[in-house]
Amino acid sequence: MKIAIGNDHAAVALKKEILAYLQEKGYEMINVGTDQETSFHYPVSGYRVAKMVAAGEADLGILICGTGVGISLAANKVKGIRCCVCSEPYTAKMSREHNNSNILAFGARVVGPDLAKMIVDEWLNAKFLGGRHQTRVDMIMEIEATQELKAAQE
Ligand code: RB5
Repeated sequence: MKIAIGNDHAAVALKKEILAYLQEKGYEMINVGTDQETSFHYPVSGYRVAKMVAAGEADLGILICGTGVGISLAANKVKGIRCCVCSEPYTAKMSREHNNSNILAFGARVVGPDLAKMIVDEWLNAKFLGGRHQTRVDMIMEIEATQELKAAQE
């Protein structure tokens, strides 16, 4: 499985640790973030990872900034992206099972390396459950595609 990973200056050390951790587990990692701690605008990495996932050049993406918020907002502007900020493993697992998230985000100023690894593991091991959850994800994608939601007008 190919995973694109990106970050800003606030998350260089954690990005490197997660990258090495997942490489050791056999994932093919594509690093499109910064490796330097000089100021780096998080939307750049959010956009790069999101475009790779949306185009199918990566199966999934991981984004890390100070909080996970800014970089996830940027990623979610790309069509087809469902990027969720998760600061603990339960939400990470549910974001795949119920929301079919295709990018995971978290904050290097929020979670430490051990918790980040647990979050990543739960997320990668979870599978989308489909069924009623598919209906709801389809509604999210309808809003994205049309800026409307038919069910809200009924
Ligand atoms: C950078 O200082 C910080 O704003 C960024 O890493 C992130 O937390 C934004 O949401």
